Amino acid sequence: MKEFMNEADQAWAQEVFRKLEAKIEKECGRMGDKIPYIPENGRYQEDLGEKDIAWWTNGFWGGLLWQLYHATGKDLYLQKARRQEERLDRSLEEYENLYHDVGFMWMHTAVADYRLTGEHSSFVRGMHAANLLAGRFNVLGNYIRAWNEDKTGWMIVDCLMNLSLLYWATEETGDPRFAAIAKRHADTAMAKVLRPDGSCNHIAILNPETGEVESLPAGQGYGEGSAWSRGQAWAVYGFAISYAHTGDKKYLDAAKSVAHYFISNIAITGFLPLCDFRAPMEPVYYDSTAGACAACGLLEIAGHVPELEKPLYEQSALKLLKAMEEHFCNWNEEEDGILTMGKVAYHERGERQQVPIIYGDYFFTEAILRLLEKDLFIW
Ligand code: GLY
Repeated sequence: MKEFMNEADQAWAQEVFRKLEAKIEKECGRMGDKIPYIPENGRYQEDLGEKDIAWWTNGFWGGLLWQLYHATGKDLYLQKARRQEERLDRSLEEYENLYHDVGFMWMHTAVADYRLTGEHSSFVRGMHAANLLAGRFNVLGNYIRAWNEDKTGWMIVDCLMNLSLLYWATEETGDPRFAAIAKRHADTAMAKVLRPDGSCNHIAILNPETGEVESLPAGQGYGEGSAWSRGQAWAVYGFAISYAHTGDKKYLDAAKSVAHYFISNIAITGFLPLCDFRAPMEPVYYDSTAGACAACGLLEIAGHVPELEKPLYEQSALKLLKAMEEHFCNWNEEEDGILTMGKVAYHERGERQQVPIIYGDYFFTEAILRLLEKDLFIW
């Protein structure tokens, strides 16, 4: 249990975990081996394993199950997590639709499995994924290409989270190439995606021959120059992860500057994160997934700064999680999805305006387990 929490906060965190685990156990019981994404009418209806096996979020349910296995030792979670990992093999074999998010897909499944059980086939899957990610590195511009088709020059802030896979591959094999690629990409993100005021662009389109910036489009945020909150959260946690693996202070400083920007913005909305911090006041769109990811990043930063600096990150993470638990969590065990009010993109059309999303539940679980000091550092 994190010592910075008072008795009431500790009891709150324990009770949240009790409810969370009870609900996930119920979801396991009714979901079979589905790969979930967004529930509809209170249930995960679609199976992403059938619909789109290469979809970037397909590792998060497995990751959530490995977190619960690590925290409770219950075999149910191990068995269910293993099936998620096995199902992803088809996307490795098919190859074509995979993109830079192989980090999100295999860190949370195969690498988590390997770290906890030493399973060799999981190591092999992790290394296949790491080699795919390394193969997307553009040596002319020093960045990892994000998406496919004609998007040869596109890099996006989200990729900072995928770098874990490369750091893991170097730590595991002793081959420095993987981490070197990760650091070069992180340096390019600092130079081209991070802004001087601590906010971030989502996308930078670079000239793939020279690495020069050609444009900085809005991506999933409100508009050009805006501050998509999940992108800010990816930067908070992503730069902190690069610091955790390299010890290079410039990454911690970058993580802190985006964290300060994030905290300033949530402080004016009662610690409930808007979908974009630079969007019109109306309509009000939240994105709980940004808050859950940022809370993990803030707690990671707190672990690396001197004593007197810690409260800013610890107390902000706690306030964020408490506010989201009070306003956004759905504890009805008959409905799938815990953290409501997620948003896929600012301009998302159709039914999925404010919904639970699987990665919101993953990061919320990781954050609560961090408070209880029972988390697995998957990154
Ligand atoms: N990585 C895509 C997203 O955050 O929606």
